[in-house]
Amino acid sequence: MRMKPSRNFLLGLCSMLALGFLYYSSGRISLRGWSNISLYDSQGFLVKLDRSLPLELLYKYGNLSEGACKPGYAAAKMSAIYPKFAKLEPMFLDPNYKRYAKIVDYSPPFGVKSQEKIIDILLSATKNYGLGEELDSMSCKTCIIIGNGGILANKSLGPRIDEIDVVVRLNEAPVKGFEKDVGSKTTMRITYPEGAIQKTERYESQSLFVLSAFKALDLRWLRYMVFNQRLEQLHSTIHLADAFIQSDVHQRRSTDGFWKSVAKHVPREPSDMRILNPYFIQEASFKLIGLPHNNGQMGKGNIPTLGAVAITMALHTCDEVAVAGFGYNMSTPHAPLHYYEKIRMSAIKESWTHNISKEKEFLMKLVKAGVIQDWTNGVCGAGC
Ligand SMILES: *[C@@H]1O[C@H](CO)[C@@H](O)[C@H](O)[C@H]1NC(C)=O
Ligand SMILES: *[C@@H]1O[C@H](CO)[C@@H](O)[C@H](O)[C@H]1NC(C)=O
Ligand SMILES: *[C@@H]1O[C@H](CO)[C@@H](O)[C@H](O)[C@H]1NC(C)=O
Ligand SMILES: *[C@@H]1O[C@H](CO)[C@@H](O)[C@H](O)[C@H]1NC(C)=O
Repeated sequence: MRMKPSRNFLLGLCSMLALGFLYYSSGRISLRGWSNISLYDSQGFLVKLDRSLPLELLYKYGNLSEGACKPGYAAAKMSAIYPKFAKLEPMFLDPNYKRYAKIVDYSPPFGVKSQEKIIDILLSATKNYGLGEELDSMSCKTCIIIGNGGILANKSLGPRIDEIDVVVRLNEAPVKGFEKDVGSKTTMRITYPEGAIQKTERYESQSLFVLSAFKALDLRWLRYMVFNQRLEQLHSTIHLADAFIQSDVHQRRSTDGFWKSVAKHVPREPSDMRILNPYFIQEASFKLIGLPHNNGQMGKGNIPTLGAVAITMALHTCDEVAVAGFGYNMSTPHAPLHYYEKIRMSAIKESWTHNISKEKEFLMKLVKAGVIQDWTNGVCGAGC
């Protein structure tokens, strides 16, 4: 029976190591009594974040040449800091969307509830639900989300951006005239009606037009765009300071409205139009950022910005994710807010719909852990 003492010794050693670890880490992690040690924050992210790679990833990517696309990198790194992450979510709605348990019980913007009829009509007209044959068949895809921040100006990132497989732009962010800084390639443009480019000549000649529907009316608007109908019948532009105060008022009156004027024509074939999977809005809001659930309804401060929604989408569907043009530095009130216009930072107003500071905490976690690469260092600034 020579094994027994050594086994006991090993057991003893193990518990000493465990105690030692607890002692060591108690200074770094929140320790609420011995029975409730929290390595994770209230959203479920690891508290102690760094850019090191888990061993299995070091091995997996060890042989790749410098700069080569790393298959599964963003999702693997995300799962390492946020174990609840489940990778597979389709980018766009497709004819199977009613089987996606996560979205059928929520109304827009968090799901598809009671919009099935119009979504079916839209999907049967667009007939395409992916990125296109070439991109869909790639075994490793890099993606970049281009934010609209003034921080993009004069950094000459254009050529680097154009080397990325999937370039995502938001709302009306222009390309023409800004190629040196923002690149010339656009794989998709994600917008809501009030943010869509209004001058048809400003649309790039090729790119997917992707609707992120924040309210039921947005899907109705897309139907007009897809079938190229005149908008006047639908259009009841009402200028109010805030979209969702307004739609709230209108829900009670059971009519709807936009919060600023919207595009009347989108120069795209139906086959180039998509509906973003609303799961990304739901996950960004309730899970990743931790905004108020409000019974699954749109409410004060629980709508993520389009940028955060696009990043969430990319984490699920891209192998590597970069961002540029994200983050505002409020200590420079005279710096430009957007790269393409002269409005200053100081024009930013308190938002009723978004919670910019909570959202920033989320983005900082991603950058700090190296899940996403921030090419303009605006997310962390000096703070990571
Ligand atoms: C890396 O390369 C070595 C030598 O070519 C090979 O034996 C090993 O299996 C490779 N590892 C991976 C993860 O591909
Ligand atoms: C970028 O450079 C141009 C020309 O040098 C200058 O006029 C402009 O103010 C710069 N923009 C920013 C945001 O620094
Ligand atoms: C943002 O979240 C913080 C923390 O939950 C909260 O105190 C603040 O009121 C929220 N802001 C908005 C605009 O909802
Ligand atoms: C904001 O800008 C100021 C002035 O340029 C700079 O000193 C500071 O480090 C910036 N802050 C962040 C978070 O980048």
